[in-house]
Order: sequence, then C-alpha cells, then structure tokens
Amino acid sequence: MTSSSADFVEIRQLRKSFGGADVLKGVDLVFRLGEIHAFIGANGAGKSTLLGCLSGAVEPSSGTIAIDGEVFDTLSPRLALEKGIGIIYQHFQVVEGLTVADNIFLGSELRRMGIVDTRQQNERAAALLARLGAVLAPDMPLERLSVGERQIVEIARALRIGPKVLILDEPTAALSDREMSALHDVVRTLAHAENIAIVYVTHLIDEIKAIADCVTVLRDGAVVWTRPAARIDSRQRRQPLRRLREERRRIARRRREAEPAEEAHGSGPAHQNDCRIMDAVRPAIVRTGAMTSVYA
Ligand SMILES: Nc1ncnc2c1ncn2[C@@H]1O[C@H](COP(=O)(O)OP(=O)(O)OP(=O)(O)O)[C@@H](O)[C@H]1O
Ligand SMILES: [Mg+2]
Repeated sequence: MTSSSADFVEIRQLRKSFGGADVLKGVDLVFRLGEIHAFIGANGAGKSTLLGCLSGAVEPSSGTIAIDGEVFDTLSPRLALEKGIGIIYQHFQVVEGLTVADNIFLGSELRRMGIVDTRQQNERAAALLARLGAVLAPDMPLERLSVGERQIVEIARALRIGPKVLILDEPTAALSDREMSALHDVVRTLAHAENIAIVYVTHLIDEIKAIADCVTVLRDGAVVWTRPAARIDSRQRRQPLRRLREERRRIARRRREAEPAEEAHGSGPAHQNDCRIMDAVRPAIVRTGAMTSVYA
C-alpha cells in the first residue's frame, strides 16, 4: 500500500489474541479522509475488535496504528479521542432520564464556576444537531426520542470532539428503512462535505451499494480484500439484496404488530430490536461470505 495525504489512519500487521484465540491475524488497512469505508464480515470476524483497537478500547497484541503520521503500538480511549477518533458503538450508549444535551455532553460537561452550564450545553448541542440536519430540542428528555433520533444524539456526541475519523459499528441494525436512509444522508455529508473518514460496519450489502466509497471484507481476523464499492459486481449482489429487503420489511411489520406503542414513541430497548433484526439478517451474511469467495 502506498500512502497519500488523505491516508489518515494506517493500520499495519495488527494482531489480537484473546486467551489462545487469534482474533486479528495481521491486518493491514488504510482509512482515508473524505471516504466512506464500509467494513463487512460475518459475526465474529473481528470487526469490532479491530475498531476497538483504533478507538483505544482494545489493546492490540502486536502491530501498529498510525494516525496522521504518528505511530502507536496501543491507544487509550482518551488518546484516541485526542487524535480525532470518534466511535459510535454497536449498542447505544445514550442514557434515559437525561436530556438530549446532557447525553451529548455526558462525561465532559461544560461547566461554569464548577456548575454544569446547561444554557451553553443547550446552545452547543443545538449547533451540533443542526449540523446533522436534525430538528431536536436539546432540552427534550431522551425517552421521548425514536431509535433513529437516539442514533443522531450518539452521532452529535461523537462530533463534539471534532473527529477526523468516525467509526459507526452497525449503526442501522435497529433503524427503520426511513431512519436508515436519513442516517445515510448524514454520513454522506460528514464524509464528502466535512472531509471526515467514515468507517462503517455493516452486514447489509444494500448499505454498501447506497453509501460506500470503498469496501473491506474481513474474514476470520484477516482482510480478504479492499476495493472501490463501484467495482463490486452487481450481478453477485442482486439476489441477496432482494432477500435482505424482504426480510427487513417482514421484521419491520412484525415490530409494528408486536409493539405499536414502542414503535410510536421509540422508547423500547434498542438492543432488543437490534438482536431481532440481526438474527434475521444473519443468514444473509453467509450468502455474503459466498459472494466474497468469488472474488477471493
Ligand atoms: N473481550 C473478549 N474476550 C474474549 N473473546 C473476545 C472478546 N471480544 C471479542 N472476542 C471474540 O473475538 C471474536 C471477534 O469478535 P468481534 O466482536 O470483533 O467480531 P465482529 O466481527 O464484530 O462480530 P459481530 O458481527 O457479531 O459484531 C469473537 O469470536 C469473539 O467471541
Ligand atoms: Mg461487532
């Protein structure tokens, strides 16, 4: 791999073992500014572990991570943040009982003479939300937000640090089709208008088609390939795509029937929805693996 000025993150020969199990087996990868890099792989392939190394949550066994030319053997969460790495985790981190602005500034509250400056937090939160095109009142209690709106709060929180890299780990697993499409718009703006490097973990091939500039397939802790999204053969993905869309529709229908109140107010636990949707799309992941072998 040759470097270019936009190569903001360069991961070299990254390895990670848990106990005796090799979860990452010498990964080489580059994330570029202004690019949406989709990250795809079966359950347990090591996607979250790899991105955990980049965000400082996981300590690599060996290898290096260079951020803007500065080389690290390991990163702490604080250091990763300082270096401009923002992450939105696979499971929501927002807290009910707090307002939108409180959630955005959770853990790094803006204070004035030692006291949380609610007014300033609300103003800053409104500016971050406006950047995302979201119409959300900063003083609204979180429990009144839909799942998609909670996702926006998570992104606003990640933007607070002015990230150069934004990692989204399966961000649409719990979202409806409409919310997913809105999130795609936000992600495109952040990458293409604000020049942020987006790392986007997904199990859904149709998301790659919709937003990715380039794609990496990870299998058993190793990169199978990285290539521009436009070069993925549409004939290979047509069938899985159709089945996946039908599956999403079926799940959405079941969700509406089972939990009308929860759907209307978005107050249900995101993880629960997450699991149900992901359980349903997992068979498609196997088909994705089959597509991968065509290229491999
Ligand atoms: N803290 C840990 N201790 C032990 N094993 C772990 C730990 N974290 C992850 N693993 C194991 O590492 C492997 C890769 O997990 P990881 O969560 O990175 O996969 P993933 O690609 O993100 O999967 P998914 O699509 O299900 O999110 C799995 O076998 C998992 O059980
Ligand atoms: Mg994961």
